[in-house]
Formats: sequence, C-alpha cells, structure tokens
Amino acid sequence: MWKNVQPAPPDSILGLTDAFRKDQNPEKVNLGVGVYKDEEGNTPVLRCVKAAEKELLEIQVSKSYLPISGDPAYGDAVHRLILGEGNEVIASGRAATAHAPGGTGALRVGGDLIRKFNPDARLWVSSPTWANHNGIFGTAGFTISNYSYYDSKTRGLDFEGMMADLGKVPAGDVVLLHACCHNPSGVDLNAEQWQRVAALAAERGFVPFLDFAYQGFGEGVDEDRFAVEQFAATGIDVYVASSFSKNFGLYNERTGAITVITPSAEEAAVAMSHLKTVIRTNYSNPPAHGGLVASLILNSPELHAMWLEELGGMRDRIRNMRSALVQGLASNGVKGDFSFIEKQRGMFSFSGWSDEVVAQLRRDNSIYIVGGGRINLAGLTSSNIDYVCAAVAKAMK
Ligand code: LMR
Repeated sequence: MWKNVQPAPPDSILGLTDAFRKDQNPEKVNLGVGVYKDEEGNTPVLRCVKAAEKELLEIQVSKSYLPISGDPAYGDAVHRLILGEGNEVIASGRAATAHAPGGTGALRVGGDLIRKFNPDARLWVSSPTWANHNGIFGTAGFTISNYSYYDSKTRGLDFEGMMADLGKVPAGDVVLLHACCHNPSGVDLNAEQWQRVAALAAERGFVPFLDFAYQGFGEGVDEDRFAVEQFAATGIDVYVASSFSKNFGLYNERTGAITVITPSAEEAAVAMSHLKTVIRTNYSNPPAHGGLVASLILNSPELHAMWLEELGGMRDRIRNMRSALVQGLASNGVKGDFSFIEKQRGMFSFSGWSDEVVAQLRRDNSIYIVGGGRINLAGLTSSNIDYVCAAVAKAMK
C-alpha cells in the first residue's frame, strides 16, 4: 500500500524539535515548541513533582487499570483547579470531568463527543490559532471556520471584529476559545471582553469550548480561570480542555482533562456516560502516572504551595525574557516598536517577523521559530539572548 503513498510533511511545531535535535550547531536555539526552559536551557522536573513521585513510589500498590474516566480524586482536583474552590458548578454537580491524555487528547475526546450528537455543528477557531486545532477537529470530522481575533496592525486584539463574527455564529455551532495565554499570539481578552463573549454565547446559543492549556502562565492560577468562571456561570453547555503539561511540567506524562459543564447534574451524568464510551473506543482508559502526581500535589498543602512557587518562578522568568528581548532588539538596532512583546501573556509572542526572516534565522543561525513568527520566550536565556538579538538584527537589515 505504501508504495503509492506520498510522505506526510513534518508537523509544523514538533517537526521543528526533530530538526533542532539533529542540528550540530553548538549555538542552536529552539524558540519553537511550547515547552518551558529554565535559565540553563533545561526543561526541569519540578521539585514538587519529584517529591510526589517519591511518595507515589512508596504508596502505589497496583498498576491495574484506572476507571475509564480516570481516578475520581483526579477529577475532583481538576474541578477545584479550573473552576476554583467553592464554585457553584462543583457543589451542584454540573460538571463531568474525564482524565484525557494531555490537552490534545482532551480536545479530541470533546470533539468526538460533540460530533456524536451534533454532526452538523461547525467549529469556529480564532484567526490565527494553534495549528493542531485544525488537525484535531478536522480529523474528528468538523468543518472549520475562522473568527477575527489578532489585529496585525495594532498587534493586539480585534475585539470588535471578533464580536461581529461571533454574532453571526448559528446556535449549536462550537466556538473554540483560548481561556488564557492565546497560542500563538499571546494576546488575551480583558475581563469585560470575556463577560461580553460569555453573554453572547448564552444569547445566541453557540457552544463555548475553552482550550485551557496555560493556567498559571498569564497572571496566576486564580486570575487565569476568569474566562472559565464566566462561561460556567451562564448555565449553558461549556467544554473545557485542560492540561498539566505546562503548569506542572508533565509534558510526556500526557496529563489533561476534558470537562463538560451542563445546566444540571442530571445532564452532567449523561455527558459522563458518553464521555466514557468515546474514551473506551479510542484508548480504553487513561495513563495513570501524571494524574496521580498532579492529584498528590494538589491535595497536599505543602506540595501545593511548592508548586505555586515554582509556577510563579516560571512565569516571572518568561516575563523577564520578554523585557530582555525588547531591550536586546533595541540595543542591536532593530528598527520598530517591540514593546507589544511585553504586553502579551503566556509562553508565546507573535514577533511579526516574516517567513523570510524566520527561514534565514534557521538557515544561518540555527534559531528555530514556528512559521508565522511565533516565538517561545521560554527558549531565551541570558546566555543566548544576545546571540538571538544580533541574528534578528542581521536578518531584518
Ligand atoms: C505548542 O504549541 O508548541 C505546544 O502546545 C506543543 C504542541 O503540542 O504543539
């Protein structure tokens, strides 16, 4: 069969990591994939994770299967984290959560679940969005359309354009929103704007699907759940795909969750029963390790505090790199106002660098950036920032 099949192109993000690994240049810099790096350029195992893993080694007595939807204690921990302790949705049992393999797995399970009962629903994604959104939901069978989001002139949000587009979305269609730290632009909605979008969803009857992969990388764990809280309070169906890849550094443990919030506990129970059939027919039940680690941390006051401190350290380092990049570009004579980089939130910035500049940086300097100019600020360190800024200055001459 394969004799007649053309090879698929490399993945636009993970394919860069493969190319980076093979690159022999000792000065190479990976600003591609959204993975946190510390000041030494390493992606560390968090101290709270190491401590929880040590404990797990002692207390774990079995590797038997988890329930299809994962460990209930994990589901409870996810509820408290993404909805906030004391949220009415938790008390009233209006949310069903299943452990999914990473945020990507959560998006796909949610997509399959919606398609099962509403195969005519179209998916609306921001322009631009994470490239894999199109892949995941397209493969699940959705027809995908764009709504206005990023304004390349102001390098900010085109909120009026977004509202105008969302105002035309038919009832039952699904609107994918980045709950915080928009990927790839780093441009988020403010509180009032979120409230207006949530009210519009309730009024028009479109279905909000929140991709919540970067909780804690914007302003903080509590502040970053603002959008989730607003949609949850509307009383309509809401989907949330959350991930512990970034905020717990559990990337390769594939630890995420799909949460379906419904108007009543009865509907949540029905949603949960179908979540289980979607999961059972895809991968049967989730991998255990990452979820057990995350639950241990979130349920231990000591480890929880350690986690918040480590997460704050990651957030602060990225912010410092935003400022260092703006200063470094200016001191290397790169023309233009790059102050927008400091206003953006999360791991990414839309640099505005053209595909030619991105290609030249890779060819001449082994600096890897995602096509479209998205840079991962966490790939910058005080050791490589001068090298990167000098290379950008040369490429932009
Ligand atoms: C990214 O956008 O770089 C991350 O979410 C990693 C991925 O899977 O693409």
